[in-house]
Amino acid sequence: MIHVDALAKEFSDMKRGPVYALDHVSFDVRPGEIFGLLGPNGAGKTTCLRILSTVLKPTHGRALVAGYDVVRHPEQVRAHIGFMSNNTGIYDRMTGWEMVEYYGRLYGIPEEQLQSRLTEIFQTLQMNDFRDVLGSKMSTGMKQKVSIARTIVHDPPVLIFDEPTSGLDVLVARAVLETIASLKAKGKCIIFSTHIMREVEKLCDRVAIIHRGRILAMGTVEELTRAHGQPDIEEVFFKLIRDLETELAEI
Ligand SMILES: Nc1ncnc2c1ncn2[C@@H]1O[C@H](COP(=O)(O)OP(=O)(O)OP(=O)(O)O)[C@@H](O)[C@H]1O
Ligand SMILES: [Mg+2]
Repeated sequence: MIHVDALAKEFSDMKRGPVYALDHVSFDVRPGEIFGLLGPNGAGKTTCLRILSTVLKPTHGRALVAGYDVVRHPEQVRAHIGFMSNNTGIYDRMTGWEMVEYYGRLYGIPEEQLQSRLTEIFQTLQMNDFRDVLGSKMSTGMKQKVSIARTIVHDPPVLIFDEPTSGLDVLVARAVLETIASLKAKGKCIIFSTHIMREVEKLCDRVAIIHRGRILAMGTVEELTRAHGQPDIEEVFFKLIRDLETELAEI
């Protein structure tokens, strides 16, 4: 469903010179699978997800989403994905219900299906107690839920979430993770970024540890802990990053 081949993005930064935000990464994500991009700040996670959602063009390599090339067929790609970016983009003057409804119409969901779809989503995400609250009056968690609802309203086969639980309390974060798990059960292909180890352990079928735009390791949590002789994913993560930093310091 997602096929990424030697994907790279080079930015020319005024101060730092050329920056390889993404340095030739390759991976695949299948339907019914949750794939995690785990990496520290500045690792390249958002860059990767923005390329997959056609917001940004790669400088090298190739990415296919639902069989469509992100550069050559961006409209087709957009029709098959739901993308939740870091920035929730909530409109102050609309209620949650109105916003999700608005996106449903943008995606061309027939009016008779739209209301039942909204009812279902508001139920699943437990959004009914604030369905008529305006964007300007919403808490972070409410905004995050509306943002997720908007991402999934058209029932796309591929879902891309950039740090979906950032800034949420444990209760809302849990509801979000449960929603993601239920989307997997429906056979969706899901990729999400995080720097929270527990989320990876609980949710991901496979994970790629990413740092300085490179994938340092990829596999199931069990494969990674075994291959690197560490007790958990956090230790694997520290070891890989330490090793890379040591290697770079020696050059
Ligand atoms: N528009 C841009 N121009 C120049 N450099 C950029 C641009 N966007 C991102 N970068 C750089 O690319 C690198 C990767 O950034 P990216 O936002 O993908 O990281 P991230 O893994 O999402 O980090 P975080 O966890 O902080 O969200 C960083 O060094 C960042 O400064
Ligand atoms: Mg990011």
